[in-house]
Amino acid sequence: MARITGGVTTSHVPAMGAAIDRGETKSDYWAPVFAGYEWSKKWIAENLPDVVILVYNDHASNFSLEVLPTFAIGCAEYFEVADEGFGPRPVPLVYGHADLACHIAEKTILDEFDITICNKLDVDHGLTVPLSLLFGQPEAWPVRVIPVAVNVVEYPQPTANRCYELGKSIRRAVLSYNEDLNVQVWGTGGMSHQLQGARAGFINSAFDHDFLDRIVADPESLKQIGHLEYLREAGSEGIELIMWFIMRGALGENVHQLHRFYHVPASNTAVGHLVLDALN
Ligand code: DHB
Ligand code: FE
Repeated sequence: MARITGGVTTSHVPAMGAAIDRGETKSDYWAPVFAGYEWSKKWIAENLPDVVILVYNDHASNFSLEVLPTFAIGCAEYFEVADEGFGPRPVPLVYGHADLACHIAEKTILDEFDITICNKLDVDHGLTVPLSLLFGQPEAWPVRVIPVAVNVVEYPQPTANRCYELGKSIRRAVLSYNEDLNVQVWGTGGMSHQLQGARAGFINSAFDHDFLDRIVADPESLKQIGHLEYLREAGSEGIELIMWFIMRGALGENVHQLHRFYHVPASNTAVGHLVLDALN
């Protein structure tokens, strides 16, 4: 049967992708940011999963305000890299796992989560930057990826609790898949940041550190935080953090923190990164 062995969370700052693509990761500005991923790159090379279920948000690259699913899953054989305005990032095509993705779609929908099925989906920095942070610049990505997209760009976003419960449903789906697969779940986005308006550049490190503590040890209390509190405490784009709950729900109750990193700033964002072992 398929197993969920671990989880990763990370911010997905597009400028970090550009720094990798342009060979600038050792610059004075970027070296301290990328240092936080060195441990994780070694860890994943030694603990390579077959499939990563990668929870991310589309930034009006594939979807738009015309069509904006709350939750969507990529069931295609592969996903093209989106052109975000400066041409697509020079990264490999992202290969999916259509059979497992369709199984997850079926199980979660029958579990009463109305996830949108995408048989074509172009993936933007929300998905490709986390892959680059963990895998660097390979010829081909060493894992299959199942994209799970969440609307965090336009009100009404789902609640953190809904994301947490969807994560649990994804867990049940994966554990019922009849093939021996090593699966990781990644939650991306965050941490505190605001890209627009009077508070552009807003960062709240106290909120972020508390969030890092509680997403590991006490997600039940953390999931009560509502949209207004994210807006106030973590900035307008801090709401991306609700995606980490899908990862956390999917990992089961007991996790062990293997690695934690926090750095301010990277572009306009507080970068947070966790690697978790699933213990059940
Ligand atoms: C930045 C961060 C994001 O999460 C994003 O989607 C775009 C830009 C930034 O910090 O610049
Ligand atoms: Fe973002």
